[in-house]
Amino acid sequence: HKVFLNGKIVPSADANISVFDRGFIFGDGLYEVMARIGGNYFYREAHLNRLRRGLKEIAIDFDVAVFEEHIPELLRVSDLEDKDSLLYMQVSRGAAPRQHSFPANVPPTAMMYAWEKSLPEIEPRHAHAVIKEEFRWSRCDIKSTSLLGNVMANQWASSQDAYETVFYRDGIVTEASHSNIFFVRDGVVYTHPANNHILWGITRQVVVELCETMGIPLKEEAIALSQITAMDEAFLTGTSTQIMALKTLGNHEYFASEPGPVTRKLQEGFLELKIR
Ligand code: PDD
Repeated sequence: HKVFLNGKIVPSADANISVFDRGFIFGDGLYEVMARIGGNYFYREAHLNRLRRGLKEIAIDFDVAVFEEHIPELLRVSDLEDKDSLLYMQVSRGAAPRQHSFPANVPPTAMMYAWEKSLPEIEPRHAHAVIKEEFRWSRCDIKSTSLLGNVMANQWASSQDAYETVFYRDGIVTEASHSNIFFVRDGVVYTHPANNHILWGITRQVVVELCETMGIPLKEEAIALSQITAMDEAFLTGTSTQIMALKTLGNHEYFASEPGPVTRKLQEGFLELKIR
């Protein structure tokens, strides 16, 4: 891999950071993942704006334009100009003697790299998800590199051959370890409101807007854990997950062979947006 690190693009073996980097010591940083499909980044501005907002929230002084300036060269040297790919960007607070509070006058560490990845036109997988009580923090709206809770939750799913762990908090379904969740009942689509208990997924927002343009009623209302079995359909959304039909959630099965009609309609609408 070629890696952008603090202003330069270098081979990954030469992309070195300090062991005292606060990203390494504290997970004191943010990240972003976006997909390049057919020569364009899918909802690029939305991803960059989320990163800008996060940086402001945690008071890291970094200009996202620095990433933007270097993306074309990164794609060129990575031989990805004419391939679909994913881009990972990370900014940490930089290297400083270990103290919890923010150090003064320390330059942030900025890194990005891209790798070939073509997402299926319509996600063919039908996910199994398990359910767990939230054990992360209360700022899930910050796309923090402190992902231990998400990593543990996803490993727990993986150990049961499931794709995701879906969290609930105070009896309310929130999101999953690396995706957002939607439900459908009587033709109405439901998803948790964008607050501090979920990441404001870009794919989630795309689906919210898609419902509007396709005339599918949508409510940004959370679903209670006790209502999971009363729902007709459920699906997950995320940059790499796209729209993935949920076959089972915990002990409840939503469908035996093919996803429900609203999930399929949204998957088709989503494909139109990608190839537009
Ligand atoms: N997942 N919730 C969490 C906790 C996430 O980590 C992610 C992103 C999402 C979906 O966000 P978006 O639609 O903006 O990707 C929700 C990583 C980036 C992924 O699966 O690619």
